[in-house]
Amino acid sequence: MILVGITDKLSARMGEFTLNKEKVLAALSTVEEPDLKKDLVTLGMVQDIEVGVNQVRFTVVLTTPACPLKELIKSRCVAAIHTLISPDVEVVINLTANVTTAKPTGPLLPGVKNVIAIASGKGGVGKSTVTANLAMALHRSGAKVGIVDADIFGPSIPVMFGAEDMQPTITSHNGKNLINPIRQYGIKLMSIGFLTPPDSAVVWRGPMASQALKQFFGDTDWGELDYLLIDLPPGTSDIHITLVQTIPVAGAVIVTTPQKVALADATKGLSMFRQPQINVPVLGVVENMAWFTPAELPDHRYPIFGSGGGQLLADKWDVPLLGQIPLVQGIREAGDAGKPAFMEENQIVIDAFNDAAQALAQQLAIRNAEKAETKVVEMNT
Ligand SMILES: Nc1ncnc2c1ncn2[C@@H]1O[C@H](COP(=O)(O)OP(=O)(O)OP(=O)(O)O)[C@@H](O)[C@H]1O
Ligand SMILES: [Mg+2]
Repeated sequence: MILVGITDKLSARMGEFTLNKEKVLAALSTVEEPDLKKDLVTLGMVQDIEVGVNQVRFTVVLTTPACPLKELIKSRCVAAIHTLISPDVEVVINLTANVTTAKPTGPLLPGVKNVIAIASGKGGVGKSTVTANLAMALHRSGAKVGIVDADIFGPSIPVMFGAEDMQPTITSHNGKNLINPIRQYGIKLMSIGFLTPPDSAVVWRGPMASQALKQFFGDTDWGELDYLLIDLPPGTSDIHITLVQTIPVAGAVIVTTPQKVALADATKGLSMFRQPQINVPVLGVVENMAWFTPAELPDHRYPIFGSGGGQLLADKWDVPLLGQIPLVQGIREAGDAGKPAFMEENQIVIDAFNDAAQALAQQLAIRNAEKAETKVVEMNT
């Protein structure tokens, strides 16, 4: 009796519209994922639809937790249901993410979804700083992130993460000894700086450096990672070639500063990835030290290295400008103090790295949807 009473009340509240899963799916299949240009239902992004009387709850699985279009997608879902079913439906959306990958499954880095190379033509433009802070921004968005410091002759990652004194442990897996990366601030890290006394790698020959880099992939237990960022040494070196020949690299990010002399070098760095035999997609350009912003005048921008260089480079190579990072004293101080600047309370710095990290994650998701699977480069050197 009581049940019947409740059902009556519910049907009364339903008013003019009936709500069921099929209608919800039909409405959501009109919502396009803005980057991937297909609808959310076709892309399999809608899950766990639950229908109440005048409420619908469902999950939208994004391609990255750092998706910059989260709110847009959410509001388009609500609008589709309100327009196509009824404005009276209460829509509750749970946003989650399952980072996409185009990496083939294989014995190397089995749990790592995307390897991203951070490169430049010129030294000192801020690759390591950008790598460290992009990693923090991606981690804060909810992704699992690691960094390989591929700068064997001048590692910076241990200092930037305040981890110079940390030593990795070794665990045996099915009879094979694997190095456990250092974990600092939620990021997994591997660097030659953790394995050899300071300065000792400087005297190594090239093949030893390449061997060390290979160990960072083959003999390190990275576990599950959405993004593994590779902080490369400046220029184009054996290390770059070893990297692309050892693991499938999903894409490269080119860091440059705005002035003309830096752009010429950045062009060299970028064109290396574009060479037909290497063919690693360039996901975009990050312009570092884009302008100087003094701490006491946070709204001021002084273009001391010129302006527009990053955009020029991006336009020339037809890739996106992922972000512009200001020259801020706090970024240098934080790096020296062993805490990436993203962790400090400077909103300008946080916003700049967040924007760049979101744009990078977005470009990678597009790349994974549109391009072929990533491959190890094979070439005769
Ligand atoms: N946006 C910035 N604002 C202030 N200082 C910065 C910024 N970016 C980098 N720096 C500082 O500039 C110096 C060089 O940066 P970093 O070591 O990241 O460059 P790099 O390109 O990795 O250098 P290398 O080619 O030697 O590997 C560091 O002291 C760093 O703290
Ligand atoms: Mg560096």
